[in-house]
Amino acid sequence: MTEPNVTGNLHARSTGHVPVLLAEILATLQPRPGETYADATAGRGGHASAVAPLVGATGGIVLNDADAENLEFAAARVRASTAENSPTPTVTPIHGNFALLPRRMEQAGLRANAFLADLGFASNQIDRAERGFSFARAGPLDMRFDASRGLSAFDLVNQAPERELARILREFGEEPAAGRVARAIVAARATGAIATTDALADVIRSVVSKPPDSGIDPATRSFQGLRIAVNDELGSLDALLAAIESAARKLRPDPPGSVPKTVAGPGPHPVPWLAPGARVAILTFHSLEDRPVKAHFADMCKSGLATDLAPGGVTATEEEKRSNPRARSARLRAIRLNGG
Ligand SMILES: C[S@@+](CC[C@H](N)C(=O)[O-])C[C@H]1O[C@@H](n2cnc3c(N)ncnc32)[C@H](O)[C@@H]1O
Repeated sequence: MTEPNVTGNLHARSTGHVPVLLAEILATLQPRPGETYADATAGRGGHASAVAPLVGATGGIVLNDADAENLEFAAARVRASTAENSPTPTVTPIHGNFALLPRRMEQAGLRANAFLADLGFASNQIDRAERGFSFARAGPLDMRFDASRGLSAFDLVNQAPERELARILREFGEEPAAGRVARAIVAARATGAIATTDALADVIRSVVSKPPDSGIDPATRSFQGLRIAVNDELGSLDALLAAIESAARKLRPDPPGSVPKTVAGPGPHPVPWLAPGARVAILTFHSLEDRPVKAHFADMCKSGLATDLAPGGVTATEEEKRSNPRARSARLRAIRLNGG
């Protein structure tokens, strides 16, 4: 995927990010008055602020993001989106990785009727050089969604063994020259730490040639691979998918004669974080994300835990792809949980 250039877009300039497939997501999730909507990746609050007036003053909005600044922006935007016309729903901001969100919701007694995870980075993150996501902007090598914890791209690039770097670039970046790039990184760092995005991009470009007539920078795949590794993006997604399935299992009606699951038992949180009939949508931007979502949702539908709300996945219209390049690779998958 190429880095989207959204800086020319007026809406993106004022909010930092244009929500992708917004109309399709609202049509799929169908938020209703009084319901609770949970947004695992609040970002700049684009989706959540459109949902807020639909759940109304009696509804709830749970906002989660690993990026504290985005979370704060999203919460303020959601509150402002309804304040002018009608009372605001209850807004609950939760800072952290969405892998932990289901447990934190259960601990807080929160239950979502509609849920969205819009994966990856927000445009404002990649547009700000100091976040270190972009090979096109000179900045410190960071790439963490949550800048308050964990290893940064600097740590990974300057400390990981060559084999580990090659694996990351191959598996997460799908970089055919992964071995060559890893070797070049190890050779370059022997003469001094690789501290900036442009220094790393130069190392990569020295061993990966640009395909003729392609607008794609040779550093694109490697940067994607490092970002995915730094944020454990696929591990977090796996944990989220497991938690969705676990909630659906808890909601499945008990077979006749069995002990009901909702009676106090060995589990600490007998009431799951998703409500019976919850609509669950996940928006992906590349095949590494889409593959596990597709497989997991298909398994859940096959075993009677859920119903597919978007067979084959929903992609953006040509018009949206033209006006928002980030929408070009987007695919929405959605299910409704059975049970309850
Ligand atoms: C594509 S943006 C979401 C944009 C949002 N839907 C909007 O309309 O403004 C993705 C957001 O998810 C956050 N994020 C990515 N992975 C995350 C994770 N594992 N846990 C929590 N937040 C994550 C990023 O920090 C970013 O703010």
